[in-house]
Amino acid sequence: MLLDYRGDRLYFGLDQRVCLAEFVEFLEEPLYLYDLRHFARRYERFQAAFADLPHMIHYAVKANAHPAFLRRVAELGGGADVVSGGELQRALDCGVPPERVIFSGVGKSQAELRLAIASGIKQINVESVGELRRIIAVAESLNKQARVAFRFNPSVDAETHPYIATGFRSHKFGIDAEAVMACLSLALAAPRWVRVAGVSLHIGSQILDVGNFAEALRNTRPLVAAMRARGFHPATFDVGGGFGIHYDTGDETREQDNFARYAEVIRQGAQGLADEILFEPGRFLVARCGILLGRVEYVKATPYKTFVIVNTGMHHLIRPALYQARHRILPVVRRGERTVTADVVGPLCESSDFLAQGIELPELREGDWLAIADAGAYARSMASEYNLHPFPDERFIVE
Ligand code: LLP
Repeated sequence: MLLDYRGDRLYFGLDQRVCLAEFVEFLEEPLYLYDLRHFARRYERFQAAFADLPHMIHYAVKANAHPAFLRRVAELGGGADVVSGGELQRALDCGVPPERVIFSGVGKSQAELRLAIASGIKQINVESVGELRRIIAVAESLNKQARVAFRFNPSVDAETHPYIATGFRSHKFGIDAEAVMACLSLALAAPRWVRVAGVSLHIGSQILDVGNFAEALRNTRPLVAAMRARGFHPATFDVGGGFGIHYDTGDETREQDNFARYAEVIRQGAQGLADEILFEPGRFLVARCGILLGRVEYVKATPYKTFVIVNTGMHHLIRPALYQARHRILPVVRRGERTVTADVVGPLCESSDFLAQGIELPELREGDWLAIADAGAYARSMASEYNLHPFPDERFIVE
C-alpha cells in the first residue's frame, strides 16, 4: 500500500519509500507530498487496459496542474484535457504537444479560443451553439481551421455528489441531440473554419457505478447513428473522465477490480462509435499519489466535542467541506492503543473549515503530524490563500 504503517511509523510512497516521521522532523508548515512514480504507474495501467483499442489518454489538468505531472504525461506519450487558457498554456509549456490537447468547458472566452485555435490543438469540445458560432468567427479572424467535437449531454443521473454530476439534462454541461445536429449543420456549412472530429461526453466525477457510464454510452448510440445518416463519420469519441476511487481504504484491490469493469463497459459501449477513443481521467491517475501533511497545533477538549486543530484545513483540501468527502487521516507516528473521537479542523475563521468530523483517531498531542490521504487530486488545484495563509509547498518522490 502507498500509505501504511511499519510498526508505529507511517511510510509513504511505492516500496514504502519515505518514513514520514523522519521527513517531518524539520518541517514547520503544511506540505503536499507526491509520488510521481505512482502517478506514472496508474497512467500505464490505464493505458494497458485499453492496449487493443486505438485510444489516447488526456490527463485532466484541473485535478492537479503541477508541471511535474504534466511533464511526466508528455513523456509517457499522453495528452491533456484543459478547461481554461491558463491550463492550456501550462500544458503547452510543459511539453504536451498541441495535437494532444483537448479543451472542454462551458464558458470559453474569445481570448481562450484564440489561443486554442492559434495553437492548433486537437479538439475543442463545444458546449453550446453560441460557442460554435464564436469558434467559427475566431477561426476566420485567424485564418485557421479549428477542430471541434460536440459535448453531448446524455441525460444520465450519475450516482455521485450533486455538485460534481454533470451529465443530466438539468445541468449546464453539454448539449442535447437536437442541438448537436444543429451544430453539425452549422459546422458542415463552414468547412474552411471548422472540422468536426466527433462527439464527447463527461457525466461527472467520482463515479464508482460503472452502470452510469454504460447508460451514457447507450444513450449516445442513436445520436451517432443520426450523425452517420447525415453523412458524417466521427473520427474521435471522447468518453470523458470521472472514474472514481475508494477514499475509505488505501487498499487499491477493489478499485482495480472496478476499473476492469469500467474498461469492459467502455470497450463494449464505445465499439464502432469512432476510429479513436479519447479519455480525460484526472482523479483516477493522481488522487492516490499525494498526501497532505499537517501538524497538530492544539487538542481542544470541550464538553461537547474534541477538536484536533491543525495547521492545514479547507484552504488546502476543500473536499470534506464542499462535498462531504471523507479522506483518511493517519498520524505519522502511532502512539499507544488509546483512541479519541474528534473533529479535525483547521485555523480558518469559519465552521466549514474541517478535514473530518467525528472520526476515531489514536490519541494525539500538540506537535504531532498527520497525513491526509488521497490528496493528489483536487487539493492543491482548489487551494486558496484564504486568511492569507500561504500555499503549502509541494515535494515529489521522483525515483
Ligand atoms: N473532463 C471534464 C470535462 C471534466 O469536467 C472533468 C472534471 C474531468 C474530465 C476529470 O474528471 P475526473 O476523472 O477527475 O473525475 N473538485 C471535484 C471534482 C470536479 C471534477 C470536475 N470535472 C472533487 O474534488 O471531487
